[in-house]
Amino acid sequence: MSIDSAAPGAALGPAHGPSSLTCDLSRPLRYAPIRRIIGRAMHWRYRLLQRHRNETVVLERVAGQPLLVLPGVLNPNLMRTGAFFAEQLGPDLIRDDAEVLDMGTGSGVCAVVAAKYARHVVAVDISPAAVRCASINALLNGRDDRIDVRAGDLFGSLAGRRFDVVLFNPPFIRARALDDADRAWRSLDVAERFAAGLESHLTPTGFALLLLSTYGDAGQYVRELQRHHFTVAPFAERAFVNEKLTLLTVRRAPPTGTTDD
Ligand SMILES: C[S@@+](CC[C@H](N)C(=O)[O-])C[C@H]1O[C@@H](n2cnc3c(N)ncnc32)[C@H](O)[C@@H]1O
Repeated sequence: MSIDSAAPGAALGPAHGPSSLTCDLSRPLRYAPIRRIIGRAMHWRYRLLQRHRNETVVLERVAGQPLLVLPGVLNPNLMRTGAFFAEQLGPDLIRDDAEVLDMGTGSGVCAVVAAKYARHVVAVDISPAAVRCASINALLNGRDDRIDVRAGDLFGSLAGRRFDVVLFNPPFIRARALDDADRAWRSLDVAERFAAGLESHLTPTGFALLLLSTYGDAGQYVRELQRHHFTVAPFAERAFVNEKLTLLTVRRAPPTGTTDD
């Protein structure tokens, strides 16, 4: 899997500027066996001490915003991906006149933070619990006038709508989801359908931000987007003991034969 990168081979670490990112999501992390052991220990710590945070209503805080997380909705702090994604959003990425789509909004974490900067945000999720949860969080943060939360299967409820920025923290694992809550992790065809639908929902200068992890089949998303003539480049990354998260920018590839001058 190849991803455009300014400096391949850069070290792991906290979020970097775009020029120092490696972003080979298919390459095993260094010290993989040790990371696996620590990963197992973390899994058991989660099962014994933290799982209740997924089974009851909890109040979390991400990027300075309070968020109520309902049972069956991905907790953006516990699973780290939502918090990492939301922390990257700022006025450099989201202009004040931007129309933003938060695909697979979950708790609404990215929609709430994006609405700090954007003119308007549409937040979509297929899970009824997530739709309820994101609506509550839009209200809780006083941004319900700028966030339109919708139930929908990917772009299905967005006919004819185009966006300046599309945010997506997708299910990483390629498998059949067992129930609505499991759709946060597993899907059989979201990579293909997202890549196929994206072009007709972007404004002429629009782009997407896609979060991928070394955990799961990130390569499938990148391959599908490249097949649909998008270029994919790392924007930020963060390494944890057992996985590395990379936030990618996804843009239409320039037509062949185009030069910079
Ligand atoms: C990894 S979670 C991300 C949640 C939230 N954006 C965050 O960052 O914490 C993926 C979300 O996508 C939703 N999802 C999965 N398949 C979907 C589909 N076909 N259409 C819309 N949403 C979908 C899931 O219900 C889940 O809320």
